[in-house]
Amino acid sequence: MSDLKAQVKALKNPPQHIAIIMDGNGRWAKKKGMLRAFGHENGVDALRRIATAAAEVDVKFLTVYAFSSENWNRPKTEVKALMTLLVSSLKKELKTLKDNNIRLQAIGETASLPKNCQNELAEVIELTKDHNHMTLTLALSYGSREELSRAARCLAQEVAEGKRSLESIDEEAMASKLYTAHMPDPDLLIRTSNEYRISNYLMWQIAYSELYFTPKLWPDFREDDLYQAMLDYQNRERRFGKISEQLKSEIS
Ligand code: FPP
Repeated sequence: MSDLKAQVKALKNPPQHIAIIMDGNGRWAKKKGMLRAFGHENGVDALRRIATAAAEVDVKFLTVYAFSSENWNRPKTEVKALMTLLVSSLKKELKTLKDNNIRLQAIGETASLPKNCQNELAEVIELTKDHNHMTLTLALSYGSREELSRAARCLAQEVAEGKRSLESIDEEAMASKLYTAHMPDPDLLIRTSNEYRISNYLMWQIAYSELYFTPKLWPDFREDDLYQAMLDYQNRERRFGKISEQLKSEIS
């Protein structure tokens, strides 16, 4: 076991939910003189390693940005390559999910994915639904603004139909209409590749998440990089708007 992994295992309050913006596949491939699709293929390898590593240290939820609402605007060939990769990866990685007792979920406008992707996704979700060690959620055709508009529409419709009062629309009601209604908010958000943006990812849910940025490009992100981020998280004081002294008196 690596030293960092042992340290993570010993943490008192490790992050339960980690969200990742897996960025830098294209630059990684370009640096090697290869096509962007090669970067994405290696991105899948990194995701397999990181999901396995997260499960090994008992992370409960791992939510990764695999394809954003805005990614549809990429060149058609790249979108097609990503969709093909999604189907082949789902087929290939079912064994990884089974071996590690990981449940697969998806968030986003998955109905806009090509039919074969939707079918493969539905099948793997069904086949892993009873796995209970960790939930791996793929954000696919996902964008926070779309998610929030959808939640607002849904609540407005319930008011229009007389199913709820205007006053009942509060934070809890909004959260209950998000794709993530069934999970806790992320404790830690990691973004690779030296970019310091949120890029329309889980904007509601990360209101109080700790943010961790690393220059590593996603295909180079390794188990120890994950563990380093988790250790860094442990050294943050999460005050949720309170002051330090209040937190200390709550603990003692
Ligand atoms: C960002 O790198 C990465 C993506 C847009 C896709 C992430 C996808 C994977 C890791 C593969 C698993 C997901 C699927 C759908 C099979 P980038 O292309 O923006 O890199 P760049 O910023 O260097 O150009």
